[in-house]
Amino acid sequence: MKINYDELIGNASIALKNSYSPYSKSKVGAAVLTKSGNVYLGCNVENSSFSVTSCAERNAISSAVLLEGPQMEISAIAISSVDRNNKKASITPCGSCRQAIIEFGKDAEVVFSDDEGKLIILPISELIPHAYTAKTFLGK
Ligand code: THU
Repeated sequence: MKINYDELIGNASIALKNSYSPYSKSKVGAAVLTKSGNVYLGCNVENSSFSVTSCAERNAISSAVLLEGPQMEISAIAISSVDRNNKKASITPCGSCRQAIIEFGKDAEVVFSDDEGKLIILPISELIPHAYTAKTFLGK
């Protein structure tokens, strides 16, 4: 399947418009493309108790699982962000989101733009080398 990365990051940019981020004022959107070819969106949802905040990527992943079921596999995930001045900001997934992405796609591609707005596409294994997996207790 040929992936339209521009369209995927475009979807992430649409998702960030609904971001609830009164504290950081950093809006983040994510778009998950699953192996079935569907796209699911998420945005960051902050909380006055900061640690309750949920990231855009994990919200998009939860939505994908809800709508496709537990066998859902991530083919690619795009992340887009704007700062408090609505200026495009280059961000990559945080460590927890990297762990969440690899859980649903050992070879998921991660799409984001660099400071110059150029699209960067990297396999999740490069963003979380030697990732923790369930093999210690599942033996696979
Ligand atoms: N954030 C995300 O949504 N995804 C990430 O991968 C990194 C951080 C959000 C959380 C918080 O609302 C804001 O960005 C600032 O940390």
